Amino acid sequence: MKSTQLDARLRSAALLVRQGAVFADVGTDHAHLPIFLLKAGVIGRAVLSDINEGPLLSAKENAEANGLSDRVELVLTDGVRGLGGKGITDYAICGMGGELIADIIASGEHLFDTGVRLILQPMTRQAHLRRELCRLGFEILEERYSFADGRYYLTMLAEYCGESSEIDDITAELGFSYAEETAAEYVGYLTAKLASYTSQIAGKRRGGVDASGDERIAGAIQKMISSVKEKDL
Ligand SMILES: C[S@@+](CC[C@H](N)C(=O)[O-])C[C@H]1O[C@@H](n2cnc3c(N)ncnc32)[C@H](O)[C@@H]1O
Repeated sequence: MKSTQLDARLRSAALLVRQGAVFADVGTDHAHLPIFLLKAGVIGRAVLSDINEGPLLSAKENAEANGLSDRVELVLTDGVRGLGGKGITDYAICGMGGELIADIIASGEHLFDTGVRLILQPMTRQAHLRRELCRLGFEILEERYSFADGRYYLTMLAEYCGESSEIDDITAELGFSYAEETAAEYVGYLTAKLASYTSQIAGKRRGGVDASGDERIAGAIQKMISSVKEKDL
C-alpha cells in the first residue's frame, strides 16, 4: 500500500488514536492503519504485531514501501504478550472476533493502566466484548459506526477505570452511545442486527423453542432505530 487513504472502517479507528500517541497495532496484517497514522503525522512511531509470520512480513514490506522502516517495530507475538514496557499509550485491536479481542485484553495486564486506550473493532460478538470490557473494569468512552465493503462496523474506544460492572442483554447489543455523525451507519448496523434476530426468532418458533428473550431484544433494537431516525436523521 502506497496510498495514504483508508477505507471507512479503518478511518473510524484512526479517528480514535490520540495525536502523539505511542501506538501499537495488534494483529496488524497489512499495517494500513499505522502507515496512515505515521504518514498523517498523528504518531511518530508504531509497534506492529501479529501472531502469524505471513501478515507480519506483509506489514514489513508495506512499511518499507512507504519509507517507514525506521519508524516501526515488528513483533511476532500472540495478542499483547511482550508489548508491556514499551510505553504504549494507544492499542488498536481491529479486524478480529469479539471473543478473541476480549481474551487478548484479559491476558494483557499492561492494558489495565489508567491512561492507556484501546481502539477495538470486533467483527463478531460485539455484545460479548462489551460485557467483558465492563466485567474487567473498562469504561467504553466512545462508540462509532462505519460502512465499508457492503458491511457495517462498530469501533469502540475503551479505558480501564477499575470499576467492574455487569450490563444487561439490551445494553450489550445496542451499546452505550453512538457518535452522532455516524447515526446513519448505526441505523444500518442495527437494521442488519434486527434482520438476524428476526430470522433467529422465526427459526426458534418453527422449532417450538422459547424466543421471548430474542423478541425482547429485537423490540429494543426496533425502538432504538426509530429513536435515532427521529433524533439524528
Ligand atoms: C483480518 S486481519 C485484520 C488486520 C487489521 N488489523 C485490520 O483490521 O484491517 C486479522 C489479523 O489478526 C491476526 N491475529 C489473529 N489472532 C491473533 C492473536 N491472537 N494475536 C495477534 N494477532 C492475531 C491475524 O494473523 C491477522 O493478520
